[in-house]
Amino acid sequence: MNIVGLHFGHDGAVCVLKNGQMSAYISREREGREKHAWAFTTNELNLALSRSDLTVRDIDFFAITSTQGMALSLGLIENFDIKLKSHARHSMFKNPLYDLDMNVESLLSKDDWTKGKVKTMGWLDRYGIASCWSPRGATIKEIAAVNCSSLLKTESIRYGFHYPVTVEISGREIPGCFIDHHVAHAASSFFLSGFEQAAIVTHDGIGSEDVSKLHELPYNSGMIYYGYKNYIIPLQPHYLFLGSLYTLISLGVGLATQRDLISGSGKLMGLAPYGRPVFFRNEFVGNAYDYERKFGNRDMTHVWRSHMEGMLSALKYPMNMLAKPEHMTESTNADVAASTQKLFEECLLEVVKATHSMLLNSGILEGSLCLSGGTALNCPANTRIHKETPFSSIFITPACSDDGLAIGAAAYLCHQLLGYPRQLQPESFSPYTGKTYSDKEIFLAIQEFGSSIVAKNVGYNAAEEAANDLACNRVIAWFEGGSEIGPRALGHRSILANPTYSENWKRVNLIKSREWWRPFAPSVLEEDMADWFDGIPNHSPYMLYTARVKSRRLPAITHVDGTARVQTVTPSSGRFYDLICEFKKRTGVPVILNTSFNGPGEPIVETPQQAIAFLVKSTLLDALYVGEYRLTRCSD
Ligand SMILES: [Fe+2]
Repeated sequence: MNIVGLHFGHDGAVCVLKNGQMSAYISREREGREKHAWAFTTNELNLALSRSDLTVRDIDFFAITSTQGMALSLGLIENFDIKLKSHARHSMFKNPLYDLDMNVESLLSKDDWTKGKVKTMGWLDRYGIASCWSPRGATIKEIAAVNCSSLLKTESIRYGFHYPVTVEISGREIPGCFIDHHVAHAASSFFLSGFEQAAIVTHDGIGSEDVSKLHELPYNSGMIYYGYKNYIIPLQPHYLFLGSLYTLISLGVGLATQRDLISGSGKLMGLAPYGRPVFFRNEFVGNAYDYERKFGNRDMTHVWRSHMEGMLSALKYPMNMLAKPEHMTESTNADVAASTQKLFEECLLEVVKATHSMLLNSGILEGSLCLSGGTALNCPANTRIHKETPFSSIFITPACSDDGLAIGAAAYLCHQLLGYPRQLQPESFSPYTGKTYSDKEIFLAIQEFGSSIVAKNVGYNAAEEAANDLACNRVIAWFEGGSEIGPRALGHRSILANPTYSENWKRVNLIKSREWWRPFAPSVLEEDMADWFDGIPNHSPYMLYTARVKSRRLPAITHVDGTARVQTVTPSSGRFYDLICEFKKRTGVPVILNTSFNGPGEPIVETPQQAIAFLVKSTLLDALYVGEYRLTRCSD
């Protein structure tokens, strides 16, 4: 059974599942070299198929998702069209959405659908409404009091949130299915988690092109689900809009642009430790319906922003520093960031606690939690969920943002709709999903750069040589095997430095042309983690938790509040693990500074050519390790 997952929204991607196993994942960002690029092209589709040893003739199903109501840019793919009609093979699905008593006719805007090559999906989640959800919404307290046991017994709700279509491609008709955005987020986490059952909370940012109308949408920002064996059962919208709130505050302090709203959130999270949460008040903890009751306005962003503007003025903050890059860490910006981060954490904590209460009310004693959606990249919030909620095990996929939706859609179709058995071993998923380049391909890439670089064949001693470089305080780039999925550097496309020298904070930011104040993350041998950090799960392989740094020997990766965003490394990371072991042998420190291998505003490098080109133009990077070679610039 070959299923192709397609994500048409931002961070567009294609993935292929062969008999339930992921055989290829291609993101348009990495292939097309445009950050957060939309949809995908014929190139990514063909690459995904060829890496899976498949052709179009071998595809059994398409699983299609998008950024909620966003357009499907079908014109990018040659000989590809989607028809709103069923296919004989849809009978393999037990109970498609159109069989339910729901108004599917208005699911898709016929006018939009037929306008040129841009087609819109509509809002699938508006049509998967359970009768127990109050049309007037629910506060977090009301959500915590919900008993969803009747919902869990309702067979039909298990099969909702998808819509069958037929894909016409290269003269063939292949059955497909639209998969709702948030159920794809939920599936991308739960079906990779190895948990047999779990609570699932999805939550993301801006789901509409018209951000001013976000507050009018009933629940597009996230859902609470219960994952059980092959099923993801939607329980309750949580009505949080923290993703869009966080994004728009990052825009307000000048960390995002209208052109790239997405990247500002990570910067705001990095800025928050420079400030104090002086604007935070407990009364602002709640969801959109709490806000409506308290403030008469469901628009959380508007209420929070107005409050902060009032406080900035009343407390006489110097407003001429607002959004000024040269004053970014001054209190005007930093206190806004710290207060917003505090609000984010407190609201999300309440929803996760309410989720646990809902399941308890319903007779489910559940200790596992899956988080997904772009807000699951917020490391301090994840850490507090780990420490302060009753859930004992948490799984977050490294591609928890929209970059993982193609995987989630395909997994949902595979396991939930077709009933394929799941892998229930927690370690069955590897984040290194990119193409592995052969020795010959790497050699030919080196040849392309001629006399501009010096190549030394270090054979299988790359880890030792690289550790020597780091111990001597050289900054290196490390290119190994297939690239990692998601936005965080996990050691296969990384810039690495010695964390014991404080100067490396500034030095690596210069190499990456980033703002001087932005922090760096450490990678630590998992077996040594507890000696150097605390406050996070012992297994944190995807850099999604913020730990307290216990040692004073790591100034280059210790943020101003004494924390760091830790990746724990095991032998499953390949030679990257060996490198840290070798560094420990030389220095006694099992920790290195690890940041993504890319320049400003660029996607992480994908090919050996892109990696070598970075070295050639970067005069501050000392060496690049790629395959069995140590490369330096010729002028060095
Ligand atoms: Fe999303």
